[in-house]
Amino acid sequence: MTEPVPTGIQLTALDPRFREDPYPVLAELRKREPVHRDTELQRIIFTRHDDVFAILRHPHLWSDPRKGNPGSFAREFLSRGDDEPSMLLMDDPGHRRLRELVRHPFTPRAVERWRPRAREVAQHVIEGIEGGEFDLIQRVADPIPTMVIAELLGIDPDMHGQFKAWSDAMIVVAFSPVNAPEDVSAAEEAWAALDGFFRGEIERRRREPGTDLISTMLRAEESGDRLSADEIVSQCNLLLLAGNLTTTDLIGNGVMALLRNPDQLAKLRARPELMKNAVEEMLRYDSPVTNSGRIAHEDMEIGGEKVLQGESLVVSLAAANRDPAIYPEPDRFDIERADTHHQAFGGGRHFCLGAHLARLEAAETLAVLLERFPKLELGEGGHRYAANPTFRGMKYCWVRGDR
Ligand code: HEM
Repeated sequence: MTEPVPTGIQLTALDPRFREDPYPVLAELRKREPVHRDTELQRIIFTRHDDVFAILRHPHLWSDPRKGNPGSFAREFLSRGDDEPSMLLMDDPGHRRLRELVRHPFTPRAVERWRPRAREVAQHVIEGIEGGEFDLIQRVADPIPTMVIAELLGIDPDMHGQFKAWSDAMIVVAFSPVNAPEDVSAAEEAWAALDGFFRGEIERRRREPGTDLISTMLRAEESGDRLSADEIVSQCNLLLLAGNLTTTDLIGNGVMALLRNPDQLAKLRARPELMKNAVEEMLRYDSPVTNSGRIAHEDMEIGGEKVLQGESLVVSLAAANRDPAIYPEPDRFDIERADTHHQAFGGGRHFCLGAHLARLEAAETLAVLLERFPKLELGEGGHRYAANPTFRGMKYCWVRGDR
């Protein structure tokens, strides 16, 4: 008898099998039920590349979880009551307005200015590592993105430890369907602390404006329109949440892919000009954000399935990025893959605002790491993936670096 199709928690990193390696499970789902009604978590999961592509670019589907049906995945797990939502969870016209107001510092040209600084941060952090066994996540992948974001926001880089603690506490519950009460209260405390902190920073920038992102947001004006303090706080929180863990996971998953594929690592060392393509392949091969979602704005048909207004549509970016209909030998990590376009940054109106920054940080960090350690391999201490249903990344990963 064939096994039942995996569903509910089995399709999240809360399940140990999925957590360690979600790809065989997702491949099975894509083959057997590419549009899957998950009645346990009240969502419809799409795993084919083309369905994911179409949903992300659909002009009318909603992103605001408060519009989901009561009991639906979006409404239950993403909606945070009356808080000012960040742009990620907003619909037009509010989304367009906010994005227009904050997008300028994130254009490829504006971000490119940060490359030398990102390299310096990476050098500073990686220079401090002695050699021998070390935890790649704690020593490299965690601190670098937090320090870069802190600098972008004009905040003392020494705050990065505090920043990291706040954002970790919030992220545990922000995108998870199941939460322990102590995690919820820790997240609420972190939220309140960060809110107070950003309000203080905004006041400081009003008095002493600079060139940082908070000052830029305060100055931002489109057709006489400006951001309120609440809106700036909410965008800062989003940048911290959306920009930290994701980039940490890109660096961690990317190094893991290289260490598990020594031929690819050797190729990258021999031909550093492949770095740009290698980072794209890392994003495709082991996507840091595994899913995103939308809500049906009316009764409609998507991917051959009838969906009703208010139902939660979850797109599996991880599955789409390994769809054999698009990528030949999708489970092969190939830094020279010709067609590395992927959906790791989403698509359409909500396409990741930080995509260029993330690419740049990862490329600079990896370049410095490979330079500093001519020999790098998996260590004895092992690794562990985090039990987070939206983000795929490791809590720790011991590697051995020799000079
Ligand atoms: C590897 C790193 C990253 C990945 C994989 C990633 C992934 C994503 C994805 C998939 C979305 C779209 C969600 C959707 O369509 O529903 C998104 C949105 C977003 N990301 Fe990223 N992200 C990364 C890094 C960053 C960084 C570094 C920043 C900023 C500093 C950032 C800021 C944002 C913002 C502001 C949005 C919301 C855009 C909107 O709603 O219009 N991300 N990201």
